[in-house]
Amino acid sequence: MEIKNESILIMDFGGQYSQLIARRVRECNVYCELKPYKITAEEIKKAGYKGIIFTGGPNSTYDENAPKCDPEIFELGIPVLGICYGAQLMALMLGGKVNSSEVKEYGKTMIECNTSSLIFHSAKTRNVCWMSHTDYISEVPHGFKITAISDDCPVAAMEDITKNLFAMQFHPEVQHTNEGMLYLKNFLYNACGCTAEWKMSSFVTDTIAKLKEKIGDKKVLCALSGGVDSSVAALLVHKAVGKQLTCIFVDHGLLRKDEGDQVESVFRKQFDMNLIRVNAQERFLSKLEGVTEPEKKRKIIGEEFIRVFEDESKKLGKMDYLCQGTIYPDVVESGVGEAAVIKSHHNVGGLPEDIGFEGIIEPLRDLFKDEVRQAGLELGIPEFLVWRQPFPGPGLAIRIMGDITEEKLEILKDADAIMREEFINNGLNKSVNQYFAVLTGIKSVGVMGDGRTYDNTIALRAVTTSDFMTADWARVPFDVLEKISNRIINEVKCVNRIVYDITSKPPATIEWE
Ligand code: XMP
Repeated sequence: MEIKNESILIMDFGGQYSQLIARRVRECNVYCELKPYKITAEEIKKAGYKGIIFTGGPNSTYDENAPKCDPEIFELGIPVLGICYGAQLMALMLGGKVNSSEVKEYGKTMIECNTSSLIFHSAKTRNVCWMSHTDYISEVPHGFKITAISDDCPVAAMEDITKNLFAMQFHPEVQHTNEGMLYLKNFLYNACGCTAEWKMSSFVTDTIAKLKEKIGDKKVLCALSGGVDSSVAALLVHKAVGKQLTCIFVDHGLLRKDEGDQVESVFRKQFDMNLIRVNAQERFLSKLEGVTEPEKKRKIIGEEFIRVFEDESKKLGKMDYLCQGTIYPDVVESGVGEAAVIKSHHNVGGLPEDIGFEGIIEPLRDLFKDEVRQAGLELGIPEFLVWRQPFPGPGLAIRIMGDITEEKLEILKDADAIMREEFINNGLNKSVNQYFAVLTGIKSVGVMGDGRTYDNTIALRAVTTSDFMTADWARVPFDVLEKISNRIINEVKCVNRIVYDITSKPPATIEWE
């Protein structure tokens, strides 16, 4: 069964929420693809999309270089929904007017909508929406009706039902728009006729069948890190071809406490996978000896990872395919989308393509992270692995300021394990997106019993974020911080001071190095 009969095209005009729109459409169980706005009407027709969404964007429609779409798109008969800049562009290109206002309308705004329109069917007449714009539609094109207004916006939404064209000035994809998902569903189901067929259960069955066919009797190699992406990718391949898949798990010794054993146990015992665990801590630590510069640490670990992986894979003889856990945001961020993305980190698992394989297998190329997690649950991967917070490839090496020694690693692993345990005990692990301990490299004076101490300072870092590009420090209850602090002081040797990091990103980063 092909599970992508229905696909929505999201045309990216460079808006900050473009990926979020795509995720929301997927949450409505409709498959969608994010493509640059330059896609032509011909290409769209050929691909057979059932609907099109124009995203927002940073430009004014009147800018000299303002991005415009192929005008033929409006003649295809495919339903189009314009959001923010996309709405203004639709208005302007079809003969309406867009004006620039003195003040930016930003934040939560009350709109009043016409519930007999398609988009606002079953919606509340008055509701809160999220606005973020300076320009606004002042006159709708011929044939369009105004379907929503706000105090500052004469056209908060408009539609031409005969041509299946819809537009909204606000952002339905943002959580603050109370009924945003309903408006999107009305577009997807009622205008485009989508049937909510995109489900992770079908994705899993379908992908396994396709992988079986593609791989045949060939052999596949996978670098398993224990992170959710590589785990789900490997398991899909394993379900398809069983022992034809070999996974190499390079344990660089910079993982969190007990993590290496957990990964091994899940994949070897629970799933009976062909797993090779390489305990390479000594190799990594000797390469890292005396190195204090963060980028140098990253580089050494990245290079050594590839070397260990190559050494191990050579022992296995010829392998035909390399399986990788690339996910949709990686694909989009590597240049498919329009948004300017600042991305400075690469996973250590990034392997050179010239390692001599017939091809690369990337079963998660079309999925967002939330979908990867759902697929993981469908496959029976334990929740603690599926919901695991992101963990940097270079591991604890970038959470120990300065040089790395086995002793420092032990201190950090123990402190970090206590913090994680208390977060789970207090139910913070699902609401806080990333949390960990840092060995700051600062020693300070303390008293313990009757004696003076001069020992390590551990910093606790916990952030909430949706994309890890920006983040806020988490408002962790004081009693939880107190418990963690007491436990670390009492249970971990050589630590006499705990501090909590209250900096957002920017200006700080999430990691300390
Ligand atoms: P920063 O510290 O830049 O981190 O705010 C943003 C996200 O990226 C992770 N991170 C890394 N991931 N290799 C990785 O695979 C790295 O070198 C690296 N540095 C940071 C970080 O944990 C956070 O989730």
